[in-house]
Amino acid sequence: MASAMTKNSGGLPLSCKEICLSFGSFQVLKDVEFSLQPGRVHAITGENGAGKSSLAKVMAGIYRQQSGSVLIGDEVLRLSSPKAAQSHGIALIHQEPLPFEHLSISENIFCGSLPTRWGSVDWAMLHKRAQEVLLELGLELDVKRSAEGLSIADQQLLELASALAMDTKYFIFDETTAPLTPKETEGLFKVIRSLTARGCAVGIVSHHMHEVFEISDEITVLRDGEKAAHYETSETTPAQVIRSMVGRDFDPGIHDRKSEHAERVLDVQNLSGPGFSDISFSIRSGEIFGLAGLVGAGRTEVIRSIFGIAPIDSGEITISGEQHAPKSTSDSIARGMALVPEDRRSDGLFAGRSVLENTSITTVHKHLNRLWMIDQSTEAAEAAEALDTLNVAMRGLDQDVDTLSGGNQQKVVLGRWLMSHPKLLILDEPTRGVDISAKADVHQKIHSLAEQGVAILVVSSDLLEVIALCDRVGVMRRGSMVGSLERSELSEESIMEMAAL
Ligand SMILES: Nc1ncnc2c1ncn2[C@@H]1O[C@H](COP(=O)(O)OP(=O)(O)OP(=O)(O)O)[C@@H](O)[C@H]1O
Ligand SMILES: [Mg+2]
Repeated sequence: MASAMTKNSGGLPLSCKEICLSFGSFQVLKDVEFSLQPGRVHAITGENGAGKSSLAKVMAGIYRQQSGSVLIGDEVLRLSSPKAAQSHGIALIHQEPLPFEHLSISENIFCGSLPTRWGSVDWAMLHKRAQEVLLELGLELDVKRSAEGLSIADQQLLELASALAMDTKYFIFDETTAPLTPKETEGLFKVIRSLTARGCAVGIVSHHMHEVFEISDEITVLRDGEKAAHYETSETTPAQVIRSMVGRDFDPGIHDRKSEHAERVLDVQNLSGPGFSDISFSIRSGEIFGLAGLVGAGRTEVIRSIFGIAPIDSGEITISGEQHAPKSTSDSIARGMALVPEDRRSDGLFAGRSVLENTSITTVHKHLNRLWMIDQSTEAAEAAEALDTLNVAMRGLDQDVDTLSGGNQQKVVLGRWLMSHPKLLILDEPTRGVDISAKADVHQKIHSLAEQGVAILVVSSDLLEVIALCDRVGVMRRGSMVGSLERSELSEESIMEMAAL
């Protein structure tokens, strides 16, 4: 096995030539050209469904293109499996990797190629090498402990460490920063810079222009499966890149919402539960209230308890003046509450079902006994309208939701609840993974729901989103509410100061 310390200087570029990829009659990539140069970071950006993840998967041996080739230098690669891609030094780093939790960190790093001595695993050597690789990533972890309970950021670094140990030269990060805190993202960027400094080539998929401009040397924009533009980062601007993405000038829109806050819809008094204590706040009809704080501050836990997913230890919740002690989520839904969860894959989507079924599932919630007796044509019309507002890229309402791009899956979950007109709408990270123009549409929709009198509770790690949406923000730190800010006081600095001190 090659040492983790190998320098990859003088390497060859990895390039994609005229890549065409289809699923059935649907063409996902059309003659795409792309390359990863040693020592450089190449960003891939574009709207939801543009084909970014698909291109990454072709390079990682997960999808097979129908025509076109992937090359290293002049050598055409046969990427028939992820293992084949690995053997050429190509690795795709996932947003939420799944480490083997019952194995040690060392075993996770060297899985598949444990060092042996006299036919059995050489544990001393294993731990020593694992330590070396982690040191290179600036990660201080006990290599003998199990991988259970690692933060997502550390899980990603573990996957990176494993790639490094396999002498990977080409790293592709697909929206890896989405679940990370700003500090963790900074840490990851430091690692990326050290990878390019040692001659590795890096590809990074991101919707965030500030990240793209901070970390990349060049940018490829995909639109509807085609390469819409390519820029040297130093020679372009975020506005120009966004224009290439959406195919027009983009106006994020300024929301000037008249808010007449009337009835108090949600009142939370001294609430304590798993992961938080003594939380108090209230939201009136037509008001958008934000819960800000770093990942792990307890925001998601609070809304899970309010919605009846997690228990309450003490304190009181009142909905429109009536006490609310939810025993299950159906109690909350019956009171006119709706929750768009953060983890849409496990909580929000019904895998293996169509887009139509996934969009209209709230109707199903309301009329559980009528599960299969809903008027299908009205249902389809309503679903189509919701998805159209959010510009969901799909082939039809009968498409399996699993085969939508990540951002489009998020739009389906959002569309479902935005159409359901609840009294209290709770949104956890509403636009994570959603592209720039759809994000503006979602914000517009949230504002208009508030104008119609819906009380809205938003949890978001995206400070600009919090500022764009909220009338008032409560800031949480380590399970406690540490302060609140009025709309006029909202800025990235004012929120971070409270959240991080
Ligand atoms: N396994 C599959 N079967 C059918 N269609 C697929 C499959 N994988 C991807 N697609 C389709 O290919 C298109 C591009 O998807 P892809 O995941 O590459 O988009 P993306 O640019 O990564 O979007 P996002 O920003 O939402 O992650 C989408 O329309 C998607 O529905
Ligand atoms: Mg994607």
